[in-house]
Amino acid sequence: MIECKDLWLTYPGAAQPSVCGVSLALEPGEFVTLLGPSGCGKTSTLRSVAGLETPSAGSIRIGESVVFDGTRGHQTPTHARDISMVFQSYAIWPHMTVQQNVAFPLEIARLSREQIRSQVSEALRMVGLDALAERSATQLSGGQQQRVAIARALVRRSGVMLLDEPLSNLDAKLREQMRLELRELIKTVGLTALYVTHDQEEALMLSDRIALMSAGRIVEQGTPLELYLHPSTRFGATFLGAAEVFDVVRARGREIDTADGALALNQDTTGVAHVAIRPEAILATQSGDPHGPNRWNGRLISAIFSGRQQQLVVELAGGRRVNVLAPPTTAFRVQEPVTLELPAERLMPLARA
Ligand SMILES: Nc1ncnc2c1ncn2[C@@H]1O[C@H](COP(=O)(O)OP(=O)(O)OP(=O)(O)O)[C@@H](O)[C@H]1O
Ligand SMILES: [Mg+2]
Repeated sequence: MIECKDLWLTYPGAAQPSVCGVSLALEPGEFVTLLGPSGCGKTSTLRSVAGLETPSAGSIRIGESVVFDGTRGHQTPTHARDISMVFQSYAIWPHMTVQQNVAFPLEIARLSREQIRSQVSEALRMVGLDALAERSATQLSGGQQQRVAIARALVRRSGVMLLDEPLSNLDAKLREQMRLELRELIKTVGLTALYVTHDQEEALMLSDRIALMSAGRIVEQGTPLELYLHPSTRFGATFLGAAEVFDVVRARGREIDTADGALALNQDTTGVAHVAIRPEAILATQSGDPHGPNRWNGRLISAIFSGRQQQLVVELAGGRRVNVLAPPTTAFRVQEPVTLELPAERLMPLARA
């Protein structure tokens, strides 16, 4: 439904390209998120798809139409692309009512009064704002304003919706609630969504697929579960959640040595530069067998109970400190020896990149 091929974008006067060879394809109805740190090129990529930036090279297809082709110098203007957009700054018009805001794109498109009325009321019903249709847009809360922006995007009934950090101006609680609402809405309507965020949890919860970006490039792509459990780069492992990363000192077959001890993996270790593990995947015990494969011994520095879990800090023999998330029910004695087990199936072998 959307296909970017080897997209490059260098802003006028900029020394470095902001988008460096991005290739990305979205199936109809798919929800794909561009995730990455500030400045990595997410907005630039999205704006290129929207036609708000002119890429330096590559091509973009939306549905059946090629909307950008660098080799032919062809660029379809934004208004002629079958897309709708929602931005971080809601960009709703303060001098208009809710209903007028949502109707605006349809008036531009010269739909009939009757069509406008029915499409607007349907969109407002979908975002739960039908009761506030006559309210002035300035008399709305942040969450309500964002719903107006979403309704205004929905009302266009295009197959593709582009969203750039649409929830980041909302407070934490509302953001969590709107997250799931937004996904449900997009899925119900059957839209293909390209979503931009720097928030890992948001990306994990919303997406069918995540494209992880760094310095203008997509470095990894996969379902949230694939990327969380099996990242292939150090950047991917650490950006998508907490991870303890150990550098490989020596590798032979399925075994590796790190500065903190030996580990056995479930796979061949050729080309593996680091091995990572999530804190919740490490098993800590003060009463089990301290010897065995993938068991490392240390001393418990601290154990902090936070309701759902205990956050342990363990100092290994060589002095390295490791974070572990343990269930809230196990009792731990601080300052005493502790054994960590790093299960082979939860070890994440990472390439050098
Ligand atoms: N209009 C512009 N002119 C020149 N450089 C720009 C322009 N817009 C963005 N850039 C640069 O391009 C790079 C990518 O910016 P972009 O806005 O795409 O990042 P982002 O991933 O969306 O970041 P954030 O999470 O902060 O929104 C940055 O280095 C930025 O400074
Ligand atoms: Mg941005």
